[in-house]
Amino acid sequence: MSDRSRTCDEGHAGNGENAVLPGSPGPPRCRIGNPSCCCVTEYRTWDDDCPLCQALREEHVQDEYTQILNSEMSVMIEAVYGLSSLVEQKLKEKQKTRQDIWKREGTFGIFVTKGEDGRRRIVVRDGWTSYHIDDAQSGGVLVRRVQPRVLTRSHTTTTGTPEAVEGPPTSTGVGGNASGAAGRVTAPPPVDTLEACERAARRLREVASHLQHGDVPLAVLQKTLTYAACVLETVCQEETRKLLDEDDELSEVRPDAVPTEVREWLESTFTRQSASLPKRRSEDKPRFRSVANAIRAGIMVDRLYRRVSPSAAVHLQVPPPILDLLKTTDEWCFNVFKLNELSTDQALRYLSFDLLNRYGLVHKFKMSSLFLENFLTQIEAGYKKYGNPYHNNMHAADVTQTVHFMLCRAGVANWLTDLEIFATLFAAIIHDYEHTGTTNNFHVMSRSETALIYNDRSVLENHHISSAFRVMQRDDCNVLANLSREEYREFRSLVIEMVLATDMTSHFQQVKTMKTALGHHDFSLDKPKSLCLILHACDISHPAKEWSLHTRWTGYLMEEFFKQGDKEKQLGLPYSPLCDRNTTMVAESQIGFIDFILSPTMDVCSELIMKIYQQVLHQQQQQRASSASTTGTPSEDSSRSSSVSSVGSQDVPKEPARPWMKYLEVNRLRWQERAAQDAEAKRLAEEQASVTNNGSAEEAAPASTE
Ligand code: CMP
Ligand code: MG
Ligand code: ZN
Repeated sequence: MSDRSRTCDEGHAGNGENAVLPGSPGPPRCRIGNPSCCCVTEYRTWDDDCPLCQALREEHVQDEYTQILNSEMSVMIEAVYGLSSLVEQKLKEKQKTRQDIWKREGTFGIFVTKGEDGRRRIVVRDGWTSYHIDDAQSGGVLVRRVQPRVLTRSHTTTTGTPEAVEGPPTSTGVGGNASGAAGRVTAPPPVDTLEACERAARRLREVASHLQHGDVPLAVLQKTLTYAACVLETVCQEETRKLLDEDDELSEVRPDAVPTEVREWLESTFTRQSASLPKRRSEDKPRFRSVANAIRAGIMVDRLYRRVSPSAAVHLQVPPPILDLLKTTDEWCFNVFKLNELSTDQALRYLSFDLLNRYGLVHKFKMSSLFLENFLTQIEAGYKKYGNPYHNNMHAADVTQTVHFMLCRAGVANWLTDLEIFATLFAAIIHDYEHTGTTNNFHVMSRSETALIYNDRSVLENHHISSAFRVMQRDDCNVLANLSREEYREFRSLVIEMVLATDMTSHFQQVKTMKTALGHHDFSLDKPKSLCLILHACDISHPAKEWSLHTRWTGYLMEEFFKQGDKEKQLGLPYSPLCDRNTTMVAESQIGFIDFILSPTMDVCSELIMKIYQQVLHQQQQQRASSASTTGTPSEDSSRSSSVSSVGSQDVPKEPARPWMKYLEVNRLRWQERAAQDAEAKRLAEEQASVTNNGSAEEAAPASTE
C-alpha cells in the first residue's frame, strides 16, 4: 500500500504541495533540480534519478486500488446502460421508485457492485449519500439508502466498488485543477450537452491509457469518473424522459372501454397519428425551460378589477342589460349564449372589450379604444364568415371568458406580467379566427388551399394566427401599435405558441409532458407551456360546465361535424370520425371525450394551478418577510387585498377555484343515461325491423309456392 505521507530525500511531500526547495529561487524543483518531478508536481513525470519517484511509481503501478478503479470504469459504463434498461423496464411497469433512482440533483455516481451474497447491485451516489438498488428482489426494485462512508485510499478493499466518496463536482469539473498525465484540462461542458458525451468519452480513454502506466493522480481519476457518470446519467435521464413522452398515447385506454368508433376518433383527432398516415415517431420533445419566478405578486391585485380607462369608456357604449350580464363574467358557468342574444350577435366584441379594460391592458399598452373596437369588429366578423354552428364568435367568447376565469378566479393572473395576461386573452380571442367549420384532416384530405399554404401542419391553427395578425396590418386595427419592439416580439411569440397548441393532435403530448414535469421534485414552472395548457383546457372545457350549456355546445358541434360528413360524402371522401350523421353515437362519444380527454386535462390543470398558487404564495411570503425585515412593516404590495383572487390577500388564503370536477361527473352520468336510452331505442328499432321483415317474408312465402 502506498503511503501518502512519505517525503523525498529533501523532505518534500510526494503530492507536490510542499515541494518548494528551501531557499531556492524560481519554480519548485526536486532534489535533482527537476521542476516536473513527482514530488513537486504530483506524478506529472517520473524522474528515474529520484528515489522517491521510483518508489512511488512502483507502488502506483501495482496499486490495487488503481486497478480496481481501472476496471470500475468499464463496469460503470455497463452499469449505466444496465440501469438505463432497468429504468426503462421499470418505467413501463410504472414503478414509483423512478424518482428516487433518478433524483438528478446531487447525483454524481453510478456503480455496480457485487454484494456479499454475490448478487449484482447498482449503487447510485447522490451527493454524500448512496442508494443501493437491488433489482433481484421479487416484486420490484428495492432502494436502500446507505449512510455515507468517507474512505481513504488505504481503506479500499478488493471486493467493493470505489468507496471513496468525493465532494460534489466543482464548476471546473473533471480534473479542473489537475495537471499532468490526465491531460491539459479546460472547464468541461455542461453534462446535458453532446459535447459533454464526447468529452467524457475522451477523458475516460485518456485516463484508461494513463492508468496502464500507473500515472494518474487519484483526484483526476475520481473527477473523471464522476463527470463521466454525470454525463451518462444525464443521457439516460433524457432517454427515460423521451421514453415517457413517447409512450403510446392511448395506451391507457382499454380497447374495450369505448366503442371502436369512439376509439378511432380519439386516436385520429387527439394524437399525431393522422387517420390517413401511418404512425410515425414524434419529433424531439421540447424541453422544460427553467423560468425565473418573476412573480410580481400583489401588483395585479388592484389594477385587475374594474379598471376602465376613461378613454375606453367613451367608445363602446354598453347597454345596461349587457353591463349587468358582464358583471357575471367571473363565474365558471357564465352564460355566453345570453350575452350573444343581448348584444345582437356581438358577444365576442363586448366581452373582449370589457375584459381588456378591466385588466388595465388598454391603458397599459396605450391601445386606442377606437382601434380596439375596429379590431374586435373585424375579428368577430371573421368568426361569422362561414356560418359555423360551433366554431363561431360565441365559441371564441366562451373560451375567452373561461380563460378569464382561470386568470382571475384560479389565481393565474397573479403569476403573470401584464404582457403575458394580454397575450393569453388575445390568444383566446383569436384562437379559431376564420374557422372553416371543417377539421384539419378535412383540409388535408380535400387538399384545400389552406392546407397547401401550411403544408398540412396545424393548418387551421396556423391560419387563425396568421390571418388575425394580418388584420392588425390595417393601421386603424393595430392594437399593438404602441408595444415596444421587445414587447411585440414576446407577445407574438406567446400568442403563436398558445394558438398552435390548440391543435388537438398535440393534446396527449401536452398533457403528458406537463404531468411528468409536475411529478418531478425539481419542477420549475414553464410559463409558455403552462399557458398553452390552460388555453387548451379552456378550449375543450364545455363538458365541464352546466349541463344546459354543455348539451347546447355538443349539439352545435355535432351539427358542424355532420355538415363536414355531408361534404365528405359529396366529395367521395371517407367519413371522418363522428361525421356520419346516420351512425354517430353522440352520448358514447361524449363519455369517451370526458373520460379520456377532458378529465385528465382538467386534473393536470388543477395540479398546475395549485403549483402556481403555491409559487405565488411563497413569493409573497418572501416579499413580506424581506419587506418586514427592512422596514419593520409588511410590504405594501403583498398586503393589499384582492378582489380578483384570494392569493396574497389574507394570511391563510383560500385555495384557487376549481369548480369543473363536479360538472364533469354530473354530465358524464347524464350521458350514460342517454347512452342507455339510445341503446334501448336501437334495440327496439331492430326488433321492430326484424318483426316487419319476418312478416313480409311470411307474406311472400305462400305467394312463391302458389
Ligand atoms: P377547436 O375548438 O378548434 O379545438 C378543440 C377541438 O376539440 C374542437 O375544435 C373540437 O374539434 C374538439 N372538441 C371540443 N369539444 C368536444 C367535445 N365535447 N366532443 C368532441 N370533440 C370536441
Ligand atoms: Mg381550434
Ligand atoms: Zn376552439
